[in-house]
Amino acid sequence: MKVFVAGCGTMGSGIAQVFASFGHETIMFDREADLVDRGYALIEKQVRRQLDKGRLTQEEAEALLANLKRSTDLDEAKGADLVIEAIFEDLETKRDLFGKLDKLCHPDCLFATNTSSLSISKIAQGQDHESRLAGMHFFNPAPVMKLVEVIRGAKTSDTAIDRIADVVRAIGKEPVLCQESPGFIVNRLLIPMINEAVDLLARGVASRDDIDQAMRLGANHPMGPLQLADFIGIDIVRNIMEIIQEGTKDPKYQPSPLLDRMVKDGKLGRKSGEGFYKY
Ligand code: 3HC
Repeated sequence: MKVFVAGCGTMGSGIAQVFASFGHETIMFDREADLVDRGYALIEKQVRRQLDKGRLTQEEAEALLANLKRSTDLDEAKGADLVIEAIFEDLETKRDLFGKLDKLCHPDCLFATNTSSLSISKIAQGQDHESRLAGMHFFNPAPVMKLVEVIRGAKTSDTAIDRIADVVRAIGKEPVLCQESPGFIVNRLLIPMINEAVDLLARGVASRDDIDQAMRLGANHPMGPLQLADFIGIDIVRNIMEIIQEGTKDPKYQPSPLLDRMVKDGKLGRKSGEGFYKY
């Protein structure tokens, strides 16, 4: 397949790495060359790690990197069999991007958005390819996590859902199907759980380390919820809570005031050097 991945942040580059590792010609697109290069450097670092650990041979590593093409030119999407959008979470920006892609891509091309909680129907509304657009939600780190949520918008066809689920299996992952609903399955369960952990910390019920230790040892989670919040990004956690709250109109999804304060103070987790932990 020829796969066009729009957005070269953590998720976009992880997704591009997965497709390239399965032998697909993969275009990494972003609006500026340094964003594309930064995403490519993340992949190079991961590939080097795998090489050092003996998980990849030199030939496999070279083949993976050779499958990646870097671009700031949207026209590269011409001839793509699958477009995956992984840009930042803004409805209008996503709609604008899909509107442009609509005119460039061939009539059989599949369109997927990696949105973590926005409405697939709203992203697709009014586009010619509405029936061929679905949610394809990967989890961080994309090369490691086995799950992809496949989300149906109001007009997504059965054929598109089946084809996307087949693509997910063909890249060694497991699809779960979901109707669109704020946060889909994983984020609807995971992010409010993290918000509760933040609330426990803010109320002084337990320390940061004890909250994380409790969930690592008491629920077998690989990371404690506060550690995971730093890994995902404090701004992203807060944003998903807001989207779930707006979508459900249920006040129980109110983001913890501590999350608001941390975002205001620029404590965004790993990416900013400090969140609940220092990096
Ligand atoms: N990219 C690629 N591979 C990575 C990686 C990355 N960023 N980080 C770790 N890995 C690989 C390592 O190379 C290693 O591979 P190997 O077994 O072949 O050597 C393997 O993952 C395990 O890594 P480590 O030994 O360094 O570390 P851990 O065993 O602690 O695992 C972890 C790291 C996989 C991140 C694990 O802690 C974990 O599963 N954490 C929970 C992650 C999670 O819940 N993600 C979902 C977040 S929610 C989300 O993404 C949705 C969004 O919409 C918000």
